[in-house]
Amino acid sequence: MADILELRDVRKAFRQGFLLRSREVLKGISFSVGEGEIFGYLGPNGAGKTSTIKCVLGLLFPDGGTIRIGGRPHLETRAKAGLGFLPENPYFYDYLTAAEFLDFYAQLFGLPKSERRERAARLLGLVGMEKAAGLQLRKFSRGMLQRIGLAQALVNDPSFLILDEPLGGLDPLGRKEIRDIILTLKEDGKTVLFTSHILQDIEMICDRVAILIGGRIHRQGRLADLVSENILFTELTVSGIDPAEVAGLGRSLSAQGGRILLKVFDDVGLESVLDLVRERKGTIHALIPRVQTLEDIFVEAVKNP
Ligand SMILES: Nc1ncnc2c1ncn2[C@@H]1O[C@H](COP(=O)(O)OP(=O)(O)O)[C@@H](O)[C@H]1O
Ligand SMILES: [Mg+2]
Repeated sequence: MADILELRDVRKAFRQGFLLRSREVLKGISFSVGEGEIFGYLGPNGAGKTSTIKCVLGLLFPDGGTIRIGGRPHLETRAKAGLGFLPENPYFYDYLTAAEFLDFYAQLFGLPKSERRERAARLLGLVGMEKAAGLQLRKFSRGMLQRIGLAQALVNDPSFLILDEPLGGLDPLGRKEIRDIILTLKEDGKTVLFTSHILQDIEMICDRVAILIGGRIHRQGRLADLVSENILFTELTVSGIDPAEVAGLGRSLSAQGGRILLKVFDDVGLESVLDLVRERKGTIHALIPRVQTLEDIFVEAVKNP
């Protein structure tokens, strides 16, 4: 798999405050994005995600390191030709309709009128906004704006898309819609790099992730390699037994209305609880193994940087 984007030891410091003290926000960032993959660049607010993206786009100049897009130095015009970008806080022209807005961007890329109309219609279809074509952007919800922003990032038919917090500020339904569009883009053969500080849902669509914390990449790789499939614990809801009998077998979370919620941490404990329930002719209401999630790694990493 060829790399579409490659960062090597990228560093960036900002001068801040009255004394203009220099503070390093990117402390040697290295990662690469392969052709055709969905890459999640994850980290809490202030980790340096947007700064990294600004460096890639040439909006900020790194103090050190190298960035290559499609094998070329990132500041070359040709390197950026196949790029689409959705900023974190896109600015929208309130009084344009969705169709006019896309047409405007298509004009910037020099597309002839006939082609512009066809492309705007196709992109509105892709982001599920056909019905809103004639609606002014000021009447759009956050989710609609995010979708039209995505359509705008696709106007020049880029092969590589960089999306800064595309799921930001969206409700679960809005997030699912954007995730589905990102998956469609991958099916179309495009490469997608997106940032997020919210982890929920992301593991469903990313091929690989990098976790950025305090300007350093904490972990990176395939999700399957980062997240162990080991069962961390099993949550059991049982009834028909005395809570005191299982007290030593796991951590009892609650016992209400005859139902006992119990967390057990190993197979032996689990078997013992199940045996006991069978013996007493009790009932197992639920048995939920909890495997490690990206969220667990993230929380752990934020706690112990
Ligand atoms: N232009 C700037 N000048 C000074 N500090 C900045 C500038 N841009 C970002 N920072 C600081 O750099 C850190 C990383 O910011 P950012 O890249 O926006 O993080 P993220 O996108 O992960 O939330 C933050 O502490 C932020 O305050
Ligand atoms: Mg950001």
